[in-house]
Amino acid sequence: MRILILLLATGFALPAVADQKLAEKKNCLACHGVKEKIVGPAFKDVAAKYAGQSGAAQQLAAKIQKGGSGVWGEMAMPPNDVTPAEARTLADWVLSLK
Ligand code: HEC
Repeated sequence: MRILILLLATGFALPAVADQKLAEKKNCLACHGVKEKIVGPAFKDVAAKYAGQSGAAQQLAAKIQKGGSGVWGEMAMPPNDVTPAEARTLADWVLSLK
């Protein structure tokens, strides 16, 4: 049964799953949970914070690429090894998590 669930989770490349895979591949999930804060904020909290703000995806994409600090606490996010397009995909995915 557990294997079946795993197959279902990984086998069907729904867009949201594909983006989560990119986040896993780029190590984002080492510091961020979708629902839980780890080193960085939970992605759902990020989505809630920027809900309805125009330009949020662009702003977050730039921060994902370059890193930064001062919005969620003392911890800084280091620059991440992502292309601008990947950063934008990840920003859109994070903002879609409500
Ligand atoms: C080494 C740990 C670490 C890694 C790896 C990491 N982050 Fe972060 N991230 C943080 C921290 C810490 C913050 C909070 C920074 C702040 O307060 O400004 C943060 C903040 C963010 C924010 C919110 C920025 C804001 O200004 O509100 C987003 C979106 C984000 N990260 C996405 C990602 C994505 C996507 C990846 C993978 C490419 C990633 N992070 C990888 C630690 C990390």
